[in-house]
Amino acid sequence: MSEKQIISASFLIADLTRIGEMIQEAEAAGVDWIHFDVMDGHFVPNMAMGPALVESCRRITNLPLDVHLMLDNPEKFLQKFADAGADNLTVHVEAGPHLHRTLNSIRELGMRAGVALNPGTPAVAITEVISIVDLVFVMTVNPGFAGQVFIESTLDKIRAIRDLIDDSGSRAKIQVDGGISSSTAPLAAAAGASIFVASKAIFKHPEGIRGGVDALRASLSQIPTQE
Ligand code: DX5
Ligand code: ZN
Repeated sequence: MSEKQIISASFLIADLTRIGEMIQEAEAAGVDWIHFDVMDGHFVPNMAMGPALVESCRRITNLPLDVHLMLDNPEKFLQKFADAGADNLTVHVEAGPHLHRTLNSIRELGMRAGVALNPGTPAVAITEVISIVDLVFVMTVNPGFAGQVFIESTLDKIRAIRDLIDDSGSRAKIQVDGGISSSTAPLAAAAGASIFVASKAIFKHPEGIRGGVDALRASLSQIPTQE
């Protein structure tokens, strides 16, 4: 049985002076979620976005808001993103010592809880939290910037996490983030991912936002996925 494939549009690479129009254009092109890359300049070597931006965007779209926290001590900010209207909140396994508590808190605040793994972090790092997460983010680039090249060795980790999810009876979905394009999305899908974050492939596509979303959907349409 196939799992619904979700495209989550990250406007990290987009022209932020036009963010409202771009969200509306992405929505019209059929993206499923809007992805926010929140960066603190410590956990990753870049800074971007915050709860005020999420709150502003909440007012102009009904699409689920998919918030990716690239922060040290993310537990300090959970309530702020819940109040801003986030639907999904993802924290990195590498970001602090209290992952289990943080993920439970995200769910208690009414959001889907996600856990992300950097390329250098093995799949076993999430064994103890697999039963309390809704999303497992496999970072397919080192986080911090849009427009980087997909790291092919992460495909083995996607397969390992697929097995972990299936063996544990978890209903978590696998989300991939970084270097996703019409060439790499099918590889990730075949390995077991069903949620695809993309920035460059959507907002810098030569045929515009709709062209980028259509190309991603077309590339995914032939892939047999697993429930
Ligand atoms: C990277 C971010 C990604 C990024 C993806 O740190 O988490 O969401 O925006 O950009 P592309 O799709 O261009 O690699
Ligand atoms: Zn991201």
